[in-house]
Amino acid sequence: MSDPDLGRDWQAWHAEYDDPASSLSRRLAVVRDELRGILAAAPGPLRLVSLCAGDGRDTLPVLAEERADVDAVLVELDPLLADRARSTARELDLDRVGVRTADAGSTDAFADACPADVLLACGVFGNVPDREVAATVAALPSLLAAGASVVWTRGNRVPGDPTEVDGDPSEVVRGLFLAAGFEELSFVRPDDAGFRVGVHRWPGPTGSPRPGVRLFTFV
Ligand SMILES: C[S@@+](CC[C@H](N)C(=O)[O-])C[C@H]1O[C@@H](n2cnc3c(N)ncnc32)[C@H](O)[C@@H]1O
Repeated sequence: MSDPDLGRDWQAWHAEYDDPASSLSRRLAVVRDELRGILAAAPGPLRLVSLCAGDGRDTLPVLAEERADVDAVLVELDPLLADRARSTARELDLDRVGVRTADAGSTDAFADACPADVLLACGVFGNVPDREVAATVAALPSLLAAGASVVWTRGNRVPGDPTEVDGDPSEVVRGLFLAAGFEELSFVRPDDAGFRVGVHRWPGPTGSPRPGVRLFTFV
């Protein structure tokens, strides 16, 4: 166990990435591809925020390849994983990346880095109760710039899944984004694996980010 406050050993969770054939590694490849496409299609200054960023492996190599000029804030509660992300950012010469060891469930941790043009919520929605997934998606427009993209993931039946939804919970998440006014750009749902990756675009006006808003708490 890395830290009792985290409720789960998230460092051990990352070990599944060591197997390149694992579902998690396949998910990683999809997230990176989606992010690469978003960055390539958006010239000009960009702000990126990654919630519950882990060791940053979905974001940092893509920034180094595509857009080292992006102002990025990665928020991760586990100090060791956050340190790994910092080391990787240093190794990749990403001097516009900040890694915050902080609770991404509160906008206190990142409202100052918003409105974001790109927001990642990968590995979040399968760890929080349904009502908090709904509250988080509903709050996202306030944290985003006009035209922003959100990359999110939701596994179909993850271990200890807190959902009370029958069927595939990612379908509920898609519905929440649509209900909040987002446009779906992409949804990846492999037949032979439980991961799902969605990309939604915010077509509304730039939001007014506020600190002090509780979005979610991991179960
Ligand atoms: C399922 S993992 C996803 C990591 C990364 N986004 C990825 O997809 O590789 C969830 C991550 O959230 C972190 N975490 C848990 N609660 C958090 C919180 N309240 N604020 C920030 N990070 C948190 C864990 O330490 C872990 O690294």
